[in-house]
Amino acid sequence: VAILSIKKYPEAVLKAVAKPIDEITPSLISLANDMLETMYAAPGVGLAAPQVGYSIRLAVIDTRYRDDFGRVEPEKLTDLEREVTFPLKLFNPVILKKDGKVSFDEGCLSVPGYVEPVKRFEYVEFEAYGPDEKKISISTDGLLAICIQHEIDHLNGKLFLDHLSHIKRSMIKSKIKKNGFDDNEREGRSHAL
Ligand code: NI
Repeated sequence: VAILSIKKYPEAVLKAVAKPIDEITPSLISLANDMLETMYAAPGVGLAAPQVGYSIRLAVIDTRYRDDFGRVEPEKLTDLEREVTFPLKLFNPVILKKDGKVSFDEGCLSVPGYVEPVKRFEYVEFEAYGPDEKKISISTDGLLAICIQHEIDHLNGKLFLDHLSHIKRSMIKSKIKKNGFDDNEREGRSHAL
């Protein structure tokens, strides 16, 4: 496995609508494994293929809460999240059902150092194919529900910045234009999606 370089706003690949995957090849499976390693190393809890330069509908997720030593804290998961087998490698993920409202302080590995509250659906049902070409169906709330919405946004060329008010978004964008990103900035990364 290899650590990939993460594309940052405003790189064009982050704005493109990613293409559906029509065959889960060994090279795509190894890309998914590299993406997982890259995500854990960041650290983050979700990563979509466009964030590492591939405009295809693939995302990896592991939203299990961890303590300062990286140990999983299962007691912080919701009942629905506890039924999920992590990590998830999701090919062509789609949301089938969504309900409720929640606001969560989101960060993104492609916009490092910025964390803002984003309104999301609280509960989602989604489907995807796994590396074995079997269909994965998940009903969830908690951080996993937020993360899958954030990752599917990435596949549709959208960043969490696009959910903010016009004023807030232009403030952040001009700040990024002026200062760029601090590569050593770790703030908010443990929850970066
Ligand atoms: Ni993101």
